[in-house]
Amino acid sequence: MSKQVKIGLIGAGRIGQSHGEILALHTPGAKLTAIADPAPGAAASLAARLGLSQAFTSPDELLASGVDAVVVAASATVHAELIAQAAAAGKAIFCEKPAALSVAELDPALAAVERAGAVLQIGFNRRFAPGFAAARAAVDNGQLGAVRLLRSNTRDPGLANPGAVPPWTIFTQTLIHDFDTLNWLNPGAEPIRVFAQADALVAPDFKAKGLLDTALVTIAYSNGALAMADACFEAVYGYDVRGEVFGSSGLAKAGHIRVTDLDRYAADGMHVDTARSDTGLLQDSYRGELAAFVKAVRSGRTTGATGEDARRALAIAEACIASYQSGQPVEL
Ligand SMILES: NC(=O)c1ccc[n+]([C@@H]2O[C@H](COP(=O)([O-])OP(=O)(O)OC[C@H]3O[C@@H](n4cnc5c(N)ncnc54)[C@H](O)[C@@H]3O)[C@@H](O)[C@H]2O)c1
Repeated sequence: MSKQVKIGLIGAGRIGQSHGEILALHTPGAKLTAIADPAPGAAASLAARLGLSQAFTSPDELLASGVDAVVVAASATVHAELIAQAAAAGKAIFCEKPAALSVAELDPALAAVERAGAVLQIGFNRRFAPGFAAARAAVDNGQLGAVRLLRSNTRDPGLANPGAVPPWTIFTQTLIHDFDTLNWLNPGAEPIRVFAQADALVAPDFKAKGLLDTALVTIAYSNGALAMADACFEAVYGYDVRGEVFGSSGLAKAGHIRVTDLDRYAADGMHVDTARSDTGLLQDSYRGELAAFVKAVRSGRTTGATGEDARRALAIAEACIASYQSGQPVEL
């Protein structure tokens, strides 16, 4: 491998553009060399913006272009096939969450990764947010004692186009972050029971078409710890991601809604600046996960979420769907 890790970006949509910029401008040891996206002009315009000469409409061409590694930021429906394809081509892989939309779809991709001995890191970026990482360190070094209760939430600022949200998105693409966070903050324990309640409270007219925009999930773990995760697609005050671990010796709370340390005081009270997007609030974590991936390509081992971690979170999302449909708790 050359001095810099040559990376190809697959998918130039919303998060692909953010990852492309981070890889091109803010990731030590990385050289973004190519972008692929089948949408007309998507790869070419991002490549032009980032000063790259290689833009493709097919991931096949990108995989043949001499890259060491790929960052998959394409739509979730194609993640599993792209992971398998990149592994077979001998590439190290970073793939956005969810790694697949079902465990059945994910397993063959993980088998391909195993066969190839490929590095696979999944984009559970909260693990790289400083407060969340400190919470995990507090669990690891025993400062919190035995873990008893955990919480995690994701509240998006707004739901611009409710008709474009695929069914089960709140579990498979939004709360999947929270499921990984809860699993990761309770290391060594397995989720054993899941109960999910959900509704369309933001855009009720779309419920009949499969929209769920508000959800509350409880999870029981094998070590006795109990966890809850909630999500809503409309938080009028801004993007809101927080987590909590409560143990026999203390409490760790991670995450906040502010994007600067400004407190502005006025006649109507105190104001802080909040984010309108995930990339606005959690920029450090996206840079951190991609920097860790470049190190993983060199070392052969990721410090981020693995394929197995992705599978564990996805199994909870699937259990949520079953629980919502039956109205009953689901054993894993
Ligand atoms: N970690 C995070 O915080 C975070 C944030 C946003 C999105 N995501 C995830 O990233 C993924 C993409 O989300 P988005 O918001 O950027 O979606 P998007 O719709 O804006 O972009 C997806 C892009 O993928 C492209 N694409 C589709 N099939 C492809 C293929 N076979 N090869 C290459 N490109 C292909 C589409 O043309 C589109 O440009 C989703 O899985 C989403 O859950 C993660």
